[in-house]
Amino acid sequence: MSAAHALHVLAAVLWVGGMFFAYMILRPSAGPLEPPDRLSLWARVFQRFFGWVWGSILVLLVSGYGMIHLEFGGFAHLPIYINVMQGLGWIMVLMFLHLFFAPWKRFRRLVAAGDFPAAKDQLEQIRMIVKINLGIGLVVVLVAGSGRYW
Ligand code: HEM
Repeated sequence: MSAAHALHVLAAVLWVGGMFFAYMILRPSAGPLEPPDRLSLWARVFQRFFGWVWGSILVLLVSGYGMIHLEFGGFAHLPIYINVMQGLGWIMVLMFLHLFFAPWKRFRRLVAAGDFPAAKDQLEQIRMIVKINLGIGLVVVLVAGSGRYW
């Protein structure tokens, strides 16, 4: 099960680290660009990043529930930190699904059509969701990393 544990942590690093980079580094750095350049840049960035997020989610869920069944003997006696991780993890997944199928789909279409004022509103929604998911993701990492010592 050490492989599942390692893959689980790797997937968490890619997803949460990617959001950290996008929100804390790329967002302020791209700010001075003109809207057409800035919004097109974000369209290319998210196009690449979201593929990795889908992969990370798949790995997190399969490895997470694999460890629950094989290491913890099922759901009956799970430590509280695993339940907190599971609950917050599902909130992150649902927020990403909304982001992907609502504002991201619209944003991509509007950027391709050159409607940058409308695309900006969709990017604002994506930014809000990424901000919230980044916050939850950081809390999950703190809970997951410290839980066994409580
Ligand atoms: C959604 C369903 C999830 C399940 C069922 C799950 C389950 C688990 C389990 C069983 C462990 C092993 C704990 C141990 O051996 O003490 C673990 C560890 C971990 N999980 Fe999750 N997890 C989920 C989501 C997430 C998410 C979304 C993140 C981060 C964004 C995350 C980050 C971590 C980290 C960093 C560890 C390693 C903790 C350590 O070794 O110190 N997990 N998870």
